Amino acid sequence: MNRSATPRFPAFLHGGDYNPEQWLKYPEILEKDVELMREAKVNCVSLGIFSWAFLEPEEGVYDFAWMDRVIERLWSAGIHVDLATPSGARPAWLAEKYPEVLRVDDRFHRQHFGGRHNHCPSSPVYQEKVRAIDTALARRYAHHPAVILWHISNEFSGDCRCPLCQDRFRAWLQDRYGSLEALNDHWWTGFWSMRYTSWSQVEPPSHRGQNANPAIWVDWRRFSTWQCRSFIEMEKAALHAVNPDIPVTANLMHRFWDYDYFELAKPLDVVSWDSYPAWGMGDDLREASEHAMTHDLMRSLKDRPFLLMESTPSQVNWHDVNKLKKPGMHLLSSMLALGQGSQSVMYFQWRKGRGGAEMFHGAVVGHDGTADTRTFRQVRQVGDALERLAPLYGAEKAPARVCILYDWNNLWALDYAQMGRRGDMRYTETVNEHYRALWKLGVNMDFRDCESFADDGRYQLVIAPMLFMTRAGIEEKLRAFVARGGTLLMTAPAGTIGEDGLAHLGQTPHGLTDVLGIRALELDALTDTQENRLIWADGPHRLLRLCELIQAEGAQVLGTYGEDFYAGSPCLTRHDFGKGQAYYLAAQTEEAFLTALYRRLVESLAIPRALPGELPDGVAAQERGGAVFLQNYAPQARQAAVPGAWQDLLTGDVWQDRVELEPLGIRVLVRK
Ligand code: GAL
Repeated sequence: MNRSATPRFPAFLHGGDYNPEQWLKYPEILEKDVELMREAKVNCVSLGIFSWAFLEPEEGVYDFAWMDRVIERLWSAGIHVDLATPSGARPAWLAEKYPEVLRVDDRFHRQHFGGRHNHCPSSPVYQEKVRAIDTALARRYAHHPAVILWHISNEFSGDCRCPLCQDRFRAWLQDRYGSLEALNDHWWTGFWSMRYTSWSQVEPPSHRGQNANPAIWVDWRRFSTWQCRSFIEMEKAALHAVNPDIPVTANLMHRFWDYDYFELAKPLDVVSWDSYPAWGMGDDLREASEHAMTHDLMRSLKDRPFLLMESTPSQVNWHDVNKLKKPGMHLLSSMLALGQGSQSVMYFQWRKGRGGAEMFHGAVVGHDGTADTRTFRQVRQVGDALERLAPLYGAEKAPARVCILYDWNNLWALDYAQMGRRGDMRYTETVNEHYRALWKLGVNMDFRDCESFADDGRYQLVIAPMLFMTRAGIEEKLRAFVARGGTLLMTAPAGTIGEDGLAHLGQTPHGLTDVLGIRALELDALTDTQENRLIWADGPHRLLRLCELIQAEGAQVLGTYGEDFYAGSPCLTRHDFGKGQAYYLAAQTEEAFLTALYRRLVESLAIPRALPGELPDGVAAQERGGAVFLQNYAPQARQAAVPGAWQDLLTGDVWQDRVELEPLGIRVLVRK
């Protein structure tokens, strides 16, 4: 299988969102763009993302002349095109003539024209119009040599509660549950007299109706995922009917949790995503780890190389505080993506518009229109770096021996659960804490959800933080993994409800009490100012947020609670099962504990790391294709121990046994 995201142009992509339709009255600007792109070492642009009003100015009347000119001009300069379908924002005529294309919100109010990402996914008119424009675009450009990728829509998100979507929801439920009786059973509608006696009574959850039953919300998220997936499939079919050889992607987003991305990725040929870290807020290493995690998650969705589709070349305009990237940070954050396996560094946006919502968002070219800016020089520096790193293009991240379970169904289940720290269970943050502890050790990790996890011998260590909802037979898969010799670490709350949202009857963690050698008793929640303490061999550690009371039933107690009425009871356990071992951590902990725990596990299991030994504070290392991406997120210079002789691919410098890193410095080291 070809592992290139863009087989027609198998090279690191450098470029970004290009919206020339804003500048059609300024031909000199368009002319200048291509010249500047060449200077910035741009080799690909994402074109047409929000161009519908210009491509179809009137219903059924297409105007491709401007796009023809742009693509020809780009191609004459050797610049490739990631061509978008325009379904992320519809023209005014479409909304005016067919109001059904506009979304209905969770107060059952229909939106007015404006904004973007707010179409109804069920509307037959919207689907027909999208299919028509996609087909027209494909007929015109799918065989153009410049076009290397389809970019479907933009950052799908949200949901719609219009009558069409309500009908579709009911049909989807009928298909899932078979009968109203079964629906009532699964949704436990005996409580509060919620029993449905006809399908027409079933409505989407909303703030005006069903708002408290978590099972209904989780099914709504699954349904919305299915709708979005169907929409992507519809668009892909229109494009591939003309030329199936151009891969399709859709730009996903950091922490958009409306849809299950493992599901959305299925119809995509390539996963891409948009990364907008908030640098300079006090702890850049932490921020980097969060985006590193999303890079790994995106790579894991299809177990294939991914693309960084958007990032800002300087600052964004939508954070509360929009800081500039300090010198070095642009190269460093771009190399973070590369070290995590990306086949591109792409930006939003090429040129700042004169008006509109994002006129002050960072861009490669600002309102001054010149190359003589700090931002432009930094972008060019990334272009240079990508050329130097070309030999790494086909190389992927070192195979992961550690797998973290991250499951969207579980995320929703925890988000909607009325328990613990209600609405503040912090599943993703907790997963990131575990990820960060290992990432800082230079360990490579894959992500799987309950469905995609397979005990295929790849992993030595599987971590399942807060796997509250079990589904897709994960209990049996984890059991087999441990029995075969794997090491499992689960944290509370675990195995509490099933896929349908109903509590497991009997002892929990469901199906795994004998593997873990414990059973869960009660869950205590702490306020932000309360803490407990973990007493274990390594010394005391702070416990935060959630403390589960457990009983050891065969497991060895490694750590106990230090405070409260459950002081002295087990908090950290280990149990031998088959040829493997299963750890259970009953509480949420401070970072230092996870670092200490994972250091021990990594050592005892001999899990490979990018570099042996300790890295200085603020420094991270990841390996891709034998090259070590050594990143310094500290605002001070650092020195790292690197046993042996190394060469920096970016500068050609040679280092022996130790390497210097500037503040926000990056080195890509290969062994000499
Ligand atoms: C992305 C979006 C872009 C642009 C960018 C600004 O989420 O896809 O169109 O809005 O944010 O940071």
